[in-house]
Amino acid sequence: MSRESLTDALRQQLVSAAQEVRSWAYAPYSHYAVGAALLTASGRIYDGVNVENAAYPAGICAERVAVFKAVSEGEREFLAVAVVTPNGGSPCGSCRQVLAEFGLETLVLIANAAGEVLREMTVAELLPGAFRADDLVADATP
Ligand code: THU
Repeated sequence: MSRESLTDALRQQLVSAAQEVRSWAYAPYSHYAVGAALLTASGRIYDGVNVENAAYPAGICAERVAVFKAVSEGEREFLAVAVVTPNGGSPCGSCRQVLAEFGLETLVLIANAAGEVLREMTVAELLPGAFRADDLVADATP
């Protein structure tokens, strides 16, 4: 599957998938439920929700759950990710960085709880100047 196969119907399917899983978000502290749905080049959709913790920093965002689920099942090429939040809030810096690891051209669809896509952009646009594998050089020690 390539970017060209990202039809309107498929985009809608991604947003709906993210919207549906949002009800599984475990967000008793922020009450900010997030659902994500990630489309791989192989045509599969991996979803994720935010999972919070009483020890706050141990929690994780929906986007990273979706990416880690996909990568842990052998997927590394992502065409698009839909993120559904209550108000169309933007992916956090850590999620941008994790998405950037697997491609700067992944399309990010940001939608509100009603499933309205408020913004769409590539990971490159979301995180200009991402730290990437090329930045790790063998002789970097000062
Ligand atoms: N959160 C996500 O899951 N994704 C985002 O794009 C933004 C923030 C979560 C983290 C935390 O559980 C809650 O939303 C409030 O920050």
